[in-house]
Amino acid sequence: MKGKAGRSIAAIGDVRAAVLRFCSEQLSRRLDTKPVEDVHQKVSACVQQVDPTMTPYIFGSTVVLGVHEQGSDVDFVCLSPADVQDGKGADAVSEVAKGLQSGFLFRLSEVVKREHYLWDVELVRRTRVPVLRVKGSLGVDGVSFDVTANRRNGVRNSALLRAYFTQCPEARWLSMLVKQWSKKTGLNASVDGGCITSYGWNIMVVYYLLRRKLVKLVPVESCDVANIAPMPPYMPLETPQQDGQALAVMLMDFVSYYLDEFTPETEVMSLTRAAGETTKEMLSWTKQAEDMARIRGERIHYRWCIEDPYEFDLNVGRNVTPFKLMLLRKHLERAQETALLLLA
Ligand code: CTP
Ligand code: MG
Repeated sequence: MKGKAGRSIAAIGDVRAAVLRFCSEQLSRRLDTKPVEDVHQKVSACVQQVDPTMTPYIFGSTVVLGVHEQGSDVDFVCLSPADVQDGKGADAVSEVAKGLQSGFLFRLSEVVKREHYLWDVELVRRTRVPVLRVKGSLGVDGVSFDVTANRRNGVRNSALLRAYFTQCPEARWLSMLVKQWSKKTGLNASVDGGCITSYGWNIMVVYYLLRRKLVKLVPVESCDVANIAPMPPYMPLETPQQDGQALAVMLMDFVSYYLDEFTPETEVMSLTRAAGETTKEMLSWTKQAEDMARIRGERIHYRWCIEDPYEFDLNVGRNVTPFKLMLLRKHLERAQETALLLLA
């Protein structure tokens, strides 16, 4: 079949079969969150020794998708009672705040090393957010994880994504398909030379669902850490309905939305306002802002704009350069032919 500009498009029957294969392969693996719960307990025991008032919260894919994909890292953030009580508060970004977070993570790293001498522990202070990276040794402790401190935004944005993905049965499958494709193509920031994090891809999936009115807008203020569990429950995945037909159609429509309908020149993917209402002009995400950032020594691009729902003035797509945008388009064109490489 041919689409716009004479591009070939995969036949929907083939897409449906490929999508079903993907889902049954996932379902044949272990997806429950027990391994995460085990690590959560071990991390809690270490945190207890450093500061018994702090509680480790889980966020990231375990929360967003409600399952634990084998080989996926787990994200933790340690929160104080004050952080939790003020569960809608903005995260501090000052150097002083970063210093305090690093201090706590350093003390935690010492305890973790002592208690689990086979784990590979590294404290990274230079990143935007200080983080303790732990790689479990193979076997029982095979789960790797990151720990941050005093930052609520990850917990809030994960709860927000989860609230969207639970509205539509195909959504989690779409998110998993898109994430896997973004990693295979090298577009995912976790791959060398990649540019959009899994978090960014998830916002893109939700923005697409909102544009198609497949989900209802969830007010960002409704996510309050005070009402979120430190370890949200496992949500088993189910075989897609209608033999995968609806999911196959959605997958292809996701690709064509970003290829042919979304207007990156003016539009911002945002979960803060009604879908389609946020423009680059409204946020002053312009060429001039790019130039100003360069003067400050930062490399920020406003070519592919994804507004962070909780962090002020942060483009989650800031690493998409004009060259990477061209690459993204090429991969989307190929995705239309190959159903996100499932038929490649
Ligand atoms: N996050 C964030 N801001 C970013 C990147 C990530 O707040 N710029 C937080 C989000 O809460 C996100 C979590 O960190 O859910 C984990 O990010 P990421 O690893 O990109 O997403 P996962 O869904 O965990 O995907 P993966 O399986 O690739 O780890
Ligand atoms: Mg992750």
